Parts: sequence; structure tokens; C-alpha cells
Amino acid sequence: MCGIVGILSSRPVAHDLVDALRRLEYRGYDSAGIATVEDGRLQRRRAEGKLRNLETRLLSEPLQGHIGIGHTRWATHGGPSERNAHPHMSARVSVVHNGIIENFRELKAELTAAGHVFESDTDTEAVVHLITHELGKGLGPVEAVKASLKRLRGAFALAILFAGENDMMIAARLGSPLVIGHGNGNSEMYLGSDAIALAPFTDTVTYLEEGDWAVLQRTGSVIYDRDGNAVERPPVKSQASALLVDKGNHRHFMAKEIYEQPEVISHTLAHYIDMSEGRVRIPDLGIDLASVPRVTISACGTAYYAGLVAKYWIERFARVPVEIDIASEMRYREAPLPEGGIALFVSQSGETADTLATLRYCKANGQRIAAVVNVRTSTIAREADVVLPTLAGPEIGVASTKAFTCQLTALACFAIALGRARGTIDEARERELVDALIEVPRHITDELTTEPRYEALAHTLSKSHDVLYLGRGVSFPLAMEGALKLKEISYLHAEGYAAGELKHGPIALIDENMPVIVVAPMDDLFEKTVSNMQEVAARGGKIVLISNAPDDAAGCALANHIQVPTAHVFTSPILYAVPIQLIAYHTAVVMGTDVDQPRNLAKSVTVE
Ligand code: F6R
Repeated sequence: MCGIVGILSSRPVAHDLVDALRRLEYRGYDSAGIATVEDGRLQRRRAEGKLRNLETRLLSEPLQGHIGIGHTRWATHGGPSERNAHPHMSARVSVVHNGIIENFRELKAELTAAGHVFESDTDTEAVVHLITHELGKGLGPVEAVKASLKRLRGAFALAILFAGENDMMIAARLGSPLVIGHGNGNSEMYLGSDAIALAPFTDTVTYLEEGDWAVLQRTGSVIYDRDGNAVERPPVKSQASALLVDKGNHRHFMAKEIYEQPEVISHTLAHYIDMSEGRVRIPDLGIDLASVPRVTISACGTAYYAGLVAKYWIERFARVPVEIDIASEMRYREAPLPEGGIALFVSQSGETADTLATLRYCKANGQRIAAVVNVRTSTIAREADVVLPTLAGPEIGVASTKAFTCQLTALACFAIALGRARGTIDEARERELVDALIEVPRHITDELTTEPRYEALAHTLSKSHDVLYLGRGVSFPLAMEGALKLKEISYLHAEGYAAGELKHGPIALIDENMPVIVVAPMDDLFEKTVSNMQEVAARGGKIVLISNAPDDAAGCALANHIQVPTAHVFTSPILYAVPIQLIAYHTAVVMGTDVDQPRNLAKSVTVE
């Protein structure tokens, strides 16, 4: 996880850049660096480790520029060393970056062949040389960045400085947040990963939207959308200084957290994947993974559904039997547990009483305890033998969104690691699955661009009394998660069912008033789900299909079709989580409920 800042001012900016970085240090502290333009030349200072090391360096080697960018790093590509610290630069361009450039290997090969010399192991340096290359063709900075952005694949936030340009900084956002701060007197402009970083300087900020890029000068900024059209993004008053966590330009924390997913999934991936080698690395569980007889999974609510997806992944890819149960049941079942088994607990808060009690039961029964948790200081994290963290950041909305997709991300990595240890996944297969995971943030960014389409569907759903969600295989837990999300924030009754179970009872509920939301990626079970959709259609049910399939693939009339990007089937549970979140969110907004704090619920359930 990285933090980026930029400042244009009428006085030296180094001190303020470091001050802003201090407020971003929670995002990463493997190394830090700043770059400025002095007498037309790019100058930089970087230091491995905490920000204070950079401060010490600046005391002996100060920078005087009135324009600068800064970065605090959480290592993804390349170890935490000074040579991998940002800013990265050529003689003409300096860049700080947060996120992942998916196609950096391809770009690096192309640019190296064109004579560019890379000095670091980072993906970011490809951006530096790409822009430098475009400048070399005679383009100006704005055109060079515009051309370069078109070549980048992935999720990123960038701030860019140019030699010879004392009054221009370019920013770009796709999947990672970025906010422009408006300084006083039209002589100062700011840029940051979040409004908190800019709080000491300004409370007037403009949030860049997905695909936006902006040219900042001291007197103001011009923002362009992904198609290059100049667009107006209204400045807003930030609450950041007072609250320390703010909603950005979103109406609810839940919406903000849905939008954070490309970024926080990138961070979680970066934790488990060695990007340059395309390999998964999980902490040592202190047990021989190759001979584990069984994995036992337990959790509550949304976290349980993440665990259920993991059961499908682990059994399919690692060929290890998985037992899973909700924690409030498992804790009293006195379940026999195998010698040498792993027990895996999934929890955002790490404090859920039932999950904790089950963990203690499994520990007392000789299981090796691994915990997928978001709050690393929590009791579950402390009592586990090994922690598999999710890097979702604080989740404020009571309905879990980004924590769920980060849990899936960590669990996907766990399944791959287990498969590798057992020899059911070879190196090529690991690479294929890792590549699929790396593409997830970009696909989610694309999914989020379709958000306006959910409003009409939400109006229809808000008039129903009951909603049925169907899914098969790995999409079955998604159907249950969709129903849970809708219930908890819109207060509409909803059920999630295995599509194949429909004919064993719930089909009696189907009539022309019943919306049936079908989660059905084009995988090897799609045709089976098509049959179930036809059973629903024959009884007048209103089908909402969430799928990457073409419109006519269902072979029956659809009330609504939410198109999901086509991706590797392995990652479909992560991608299909987003539409079900957006359906619930928009329905709740239409119903006028308290989205972030729905009635009767609490974020952390520390009682039985
Ligand atoms: C639903 C939701 C809950 C939690 C459950 C477990 O949106 O958030 O179902 O998933 O209470 O909480 P944690 O993950 O903190 O153990």
C-alpha cells in the first residue's frame, strides 16, 4: 500500500511534502522519497525505511524546489530498498505511483529494446520510460502522458513531474484514489492519495473519478476524463481533518468502500504475490502442507461465505477435503478433528465471539490455527498460530464489502499455495492463476463504471417483498452473500439458494412478482443454470442475470442483465461480488434506510 502527494507552491515544498507523507505513513513505510524541480532539473532524495530516514537525509542534502512529488512505499514489485523507492525518474520525467501496472513486463521489454535503461525492479519505472519515450518523439508533457496512459493496464494513481516545467504536475487515477487540494490565493495546489494527507494545507478538495487525469498548475487544474474530454469535478469541503476517516465524495461509507476495492485488493495481492516471479507466498504455517489431511473452516455471516468459496477452491485446486461450518454451530458440535489438520478462521474484525470460541475449540483439539483477518491487532489474530492478513483498511459501513473481496483474495492465494505444496498445481498453472488474480483490480474498475445502471433495477426491487438469489458451484455462496447484503441494508426479505435446489421446494414461491437474481458466470456449470432460469421463466418469475454471457445465452426473457467482464473463471467469485453489492446498496438508497448503520446490527459482534 503506498501514499502519494504533490505540491505546487511559491516557496520550497520539501518540508510540506514530508509533512503530508507523515499523514500517509499508515499506507506503507518500507521507504520514502521526494522529487522537485530546481533550476529546471529534476532532483530527488530517497531513503529506505521509515519517513524519518528521509527527513534525516533532507537535513544534510536539502531540496529547494517549489514544485514536488512524494511517496511512502509499501513494496509490491521489488524489495524495500532505496533503488526501488519512489520517485522513479529519467532525466526528463519523475513519477510516484500507487497500484499495479499489470503489463509492466511487456512494456519493460519493449522500452529496453528501444534503448531505455531500467534501474529498479519496480513496475513504476516502466511508466517513467514510457512517458520519456513519448517526449522523445517530440510530444509535449500533456500529450506524452495522454499517449502513455492509453498503454497502461492495471489499477494505479500517478503523480508526474517534468524537467524544465516549474509550473506543471500531471496526475492520473484508475482504481487507486487521488484527490486534488485547492490552496489559498490561487498560488498553491496539492495532490494526495487521500484528503487526510492534505488536511494541514486545505479543506477544499476535488476527488478525481475513475479514469480521470489532471494537469495541475499553481493557479488551478484542468481535469480530463478517460476519453480526453475536459470535465468539471466540483470541489467539496473535506471533513478529513476532523474525522481522520472521511467518505470522500461518496454519500455513504459503503459506497466508498465498494469503490476502494480495486485498490485494497491490489494491496492484498501485493502481500501474497511476488509480482516479478508470478508466485504466491504465504507465511509458514509450521506444518507440512503436503500431508494436511483436512482443512476446517469456520466464520460468521459474510466471512462465512468467503470461507465457503474457499472450500470450492481448495477442494478443486489443492484436492484437500474441506469441512466448513458457521461458527455459532461449530463451537457446540463437538466435531471430531483430524490429527495434523489446519483450522482456518475468517473474520474482518477479528473479534467475533462465535468465531473466536470455535478457534479455541480447534486449538484445544490440536489443529494448526490460521486466521484471515483484517484487524491485525485483534484477538483472533493474536490467538492464531499464523495470520493471513487482508489489507482492506478500516471498514466503517456495517455491511461488509471490501473486506469480503479481500478475504476472497487472500483465500485464493492460500488455495494456490496449498495446491503447489501438494503438487496439484504446477508452476505454469500457478502463473496462470496468479495472472488471473492480478487482473482483478482492473476488471472491478471496469465494473464500477456501470454503476448508474443499477438505479432502475433498485427501484424495481424496492417494490418487491421477497427476492430469490440463485447460484451454482462457486457462485452458490455468492447467491447467499447477495441475499444477506440485500436483507441487512434494505430490510427486504431475500434468500440465497443453490440453483439446483430450486425444484426441491423454493420453486413454489415463483410468480410474476418474484425477482430472481441469478449469479452465473460462463463456467462449466452455466448450461445447468440456464435450465434453472428456464424453470423460473416458465412460471413467470422475473430474472435478473448477473453474467458475462451474451443476452441470448439464457434462452429466456430477462428482466435485467448485468454484464460482468469476461475473466478467468477462477476469479469469478471476486468479480461477481461487486454487482451484488451495488444491487443491495442502490436498493437501500431507494428505500431510504440507514445504509452505513442498518437497524439492529453492529460492526463487530462480540457477544454470542
Ligand atoms: C455482513 C457482515 C456480517 C459479518 C459477520 C462476521 O455484511 O458484515 O455478516 O461478516 O458479522 O464479522 P467478522 O468478519 O468481523 O467476523
